[in-house]
Amino acid sequence: MTNYLVTGGAGFIGSNLVDELIKRGYNVITIDNFDDYYSEDYKLKNLNPKAKLYKGDITNYEFLKVVFDENKIDGVFHLAAKAGVRASVEKPGEYFNANVVGTANLLKLCSERKIKVVFASSSSVYGEVEYIPTDENHPKNPISPYALSKLHAEQLCEFYMNQYDFPVAWTRFYTVYGPRGRPDMAIAKFTKAVLKGEPIEIYGNGEQLRDFTYVSDIVQGLTKVMQLGARGCFNLGTSQKVSVNDLVKYIEEIANRKANVIYTDKKEGDVSRTMADITKARELVGYNPEYTIQSGIKEYMSWFVKNSD
Ligand SMILES: NC(=O)c1ccc[n+]([C@@H]2O[C@H](COP(=O)([O-])OP(=O)(O)OC[C@H]3O[C@@H](n4cnc5c(N)ncnc54)[C@H](O)[C@@H]3O)[C@@H](O)[C@H]2O)c1
Repeated sequence: MTNYLVTGGAGFIGSNLVDELIKRGYNVITIDNFDDYYSEDYKLKNLNPKAKLYKGDITNYEFLKVVFDENKIDGVFHLAAKAGVRASVEKPGEYFNANVVGTANLLKLCSERKIKVVFASSSSVYGEVEYIPTDENHPKNPISPYALSKLHAEQLCEFYMNQYDFPVAWTRFYTVYGPRGRPDMAIAKFTKAVLKGEPIEIYGNGEQLRDFTYVSDIVQGLTKVMQLGARGCFNLGTSQKVSVNDLVKYIEEIANRKANVIYTDKKEGDVSRTMADITKARELVGYNPEYTIQSGIKEYMSWFVKNSD
């Protein structure tokens, strides 16, 4: 029986991954500290009862060691992190602690046991890009503490992989959305606002481009990378460019309601465009995103309607 450890398993993407791994018949162990970035109640609802949960912090090496000593682990999906770009501007120390120190702790334990690791990094490591679609070799110019912490964590991945010769992959996600989506992210906020008749706040002029990626496509990419024991860096996006204004238009069309949009100042740390070149993941691991922005929003909205109070 294969046992996978998912860090951040109570979070948005982690919980979707856990559900899929359990559906495929794997044993799943999760670690999460129920970080207060958004509500614990929300995260508790994400938990799959078939996964074995360790509540604790990845910055605590002794805690992590107990998890590794008590379980036979065949692969680690490392998703635990402080995830908000804008909040990282206010609390950079907390971001570096969770995202860099926590990653170093995990990599040490995995390198000693030669356990495969797939790490959740971010397209934000590229910063303001020189070209789109952006491939993995594009220069890295982070413009937020969050993005820099992810870049440092990637460097740790590369260091441990080379130094101890075991499979480590770092995957760069592009604005992920879907069921249980983080309440601070645009699609979750906009969908809720349109359906409840509340105003939508857009930071900047709304012409910023995002490569929105449906969560089950990310789960597909992560599991493929893990199964092949792939090494190195992979962009996991959809390779589509959608402006924030377009996003609102699609939400309006699908909800069949008009949005009340308020434009406010651009936020520090936000980049003006992202769009992934996913050729490498397609060719080396068979990654094949299935959702367009329209089909993804449709699916997300029907989940939201069923699950909102
Ligand atoms: N959502 C996106 O668009 C996106 C884009 C790029 C990268 N990512 C990365 O994907 C991963 C998952 O993101 P998400 O959107 O599901 O965020 P999330 O906040 O829902 O999930 C992260 C989980 O990690 C947990 N966590 C935080 N610090 C921890 C610590 N020190 N010890 C143990 N657990 C801790 C949190 O409680 C949370 O449940 C993160 O690494 C994030 O940086 C997400």
